Amino acid sequence: MTLGRNDLCWCGSGKKYKSCHLAFDQKIDLFRDKGHIVPSHDIIKSKEDIEGIKASAKINIACLDYVAEHIRAGISTQDIDDWVSKITAEMGGIPATLGYEGYPKSCCTSINDEVCHGIPSEDVILQDGDIINVDCSTILNGYFSDSSRMFIIGETTPEKKKLVEDVKKAVEIGLAEIKPWRFLGDMGSAINEFCKSQGYEVVVDIGGHGCGLEFHEEPWVSYVSKPGTEMLMVPGMCFTVEPMVNLGRHEIFQDEDNGWTIYTEDGSPSAQWEVQIVVTEDGYEMITY
Ligand code: MF3
Ligand code: CO
Repeated sequence: MTLGRNDLCWCGSGKKYKSCHLAFDQKIDLFRDKGHIVPSHDIIKSKEDIEGIKASAKINIACLDYVAEHIRAGISTQDIDDWVSKITAEMGGIPATLGYEGYPKSCCTSINDEVCHGIPSEDVILQDGDIINVDCSTILNGYFSDSSRMFIIGETTPEKKKLVEDVKKAVEIGLAEIKPWRFLGDMGSAINEFCKSQGYEVVVDIGGHGCGLEFHEEPWVSYVSKPGTEMLMVPGMCFTVEPMVNLGRHEIFQDEDNGWTIYTEDGSPSAQWEVQIVVTEDGYEMITY
């Protein structure tokens, strides 16, 4: 179906196509004609969508703020899950992971050599020196938000501390590359180059994702990509920046018993920070942190 200039725009603004997204679509077509991967309309968020996603994000930010204040040696990762599930419910949301493809808990808690998808458990007690990622995602009124942070329990080794700090820096370096009409690969390669310069390896097989109207939507987001490649970034696209970075080699494996948890193959520690952003007319806006 081709929209006429005087038809209503596909974005739901109620405006005529010619005075709304026509020029935007023409610009995307130029990139498509050059062979680039371009976003489809269904992942471009409207103003209302972005408001809805931000409202959802308030909940997972509140969960992680609470975790930041209360996490300490001696608690179990189930305690973290209890906090997340209580705060999310109190604020009217639903944990997006709970029941997602059979995942049993309200957040992920990944410790040391666990890369991601660690499952909260009463049997896992935080120890002094652990590094842990708490990953929290929320549904509110059908809108999805996703973020994760690292926490250092007590005192850890200088190596693990530097890894945690550097991966946060890597996310900031990636964010600086997010501009409309540039490519996801510009962001991914900036993250990879920085991580390599510090002697780390970025996980290749798991990446980030579009997020907002669904938990995981297009595009899949790599953090080992090349400049000028991967999907064109355009205003209204919403995705996560969440590199998983290993102190050792990038290879990973999945827990055979629980079917979820991912570990580094070489047993080295891994760290990850996750933010969700929306691409704007002149850069990006942070939705979660
Ligand atoms: N926030 C995680 C992600 O986007 C959640 C994964 S799904 C889960 O990768 F079921 F493992 F939690
Ligand atoms: Co995610």
